[in-house]
Amino acid sequence: MSTFAVIMPAAGKSRRFHDKHYKKPFVPLAGRAVWLHSAERFLNRPDVKQVVLVVADEDREEFNRKFGANIAILDVDVCSGGVERADSIENALAMVKSDIDFVAVHDAARPCVAEKWIDQVFAAAEKNGAALLATPVAGTLKRVGSNKQIEATVDRQNLWEAQTPQVFRRELLAKAYAARAGKAVTDDATLVEQLGEPVTIVEGSPLNLKITTRDDLRLAEQVLKVLPRPKAKGSSHPFADDDLWR
Ligand code: CTP
Ligand code: MG
Repeated sequence: MSTFAVIMPAAGKSRRFHDKHYKKPFVPLAGRAVWLHSAERFLNRPDVKQVVLVVADEDREEFNRKFGANIAILDVDVCSGGVERADSIENALAMVKSDIDFVAVHDAARPCVAEKWIDQVFAAAEKNGAALLATPVAGTLKRVGSNKQIEATVDRQNLWEAQTPQVFRRELLAKAYAARAGKAVTDDATLVEQLGEPVTIVEGSPLNLKITTRDDLRLAEQVLKVLPRPKAKGSSHPFADDDLWR
């Protein structure tokens, strides 16, 4: 069985979340912090051998106070964030154990990822070296100028919206980050693409939403109610209502 480490960036500023009291990875969602929902999706997997959560230095004291016990019990490693998301991932990559085969990067702010989608993207990475969840773009896309006037309608054919997890053979992701040279990118696949290496798309679901605004938090609350429960170990029927999920 291949082994996986999961890097969970939670060191952003949550600017678009506009909340005085909480950054989005730490806001309560259905009774537990958002990052805990995200982490729990991976912590109970036998193929996941390490989870690294990235927390900004400015949040570390409060984080330790609130979640120190969780971190100890769940055996989660914590590392310092950087200015850009890619800086945060680079810090965490340095902590990934050298006997790990694959590294998955999953936004702490994406708490509604179902076990089935993780299974599929992990399997695609094992087969191809690099894979991510994504959804085909469904809307009509407009490029808009600063004066709120439409400049162009963008053809949506072949356009996909990237999500996380994004999963890579460990050496490949390390090589991609080594070649980054400080560039700010909004996902990890971009850096692997820039090496000229193939990255496979696995069709996910819009339910795997990333919390960006307060409205997204309300949506996530509802999505959690309809997500399939993690399958009982050894069961061959993961979801009672499987039709809904394919
Ligand atoms: N992130 C991080 N380090 C950064 C920036 C972002 O670890 N320097 C994390 C965020 O905490 C989040 C994920 O990367 O879990 C995705 O980033 P995004 O949704 O953009 O979060 P923020 O940057 O925090 O939000 P905003 O852009 O609205 O400020
Ligand atoms: Mg951001």
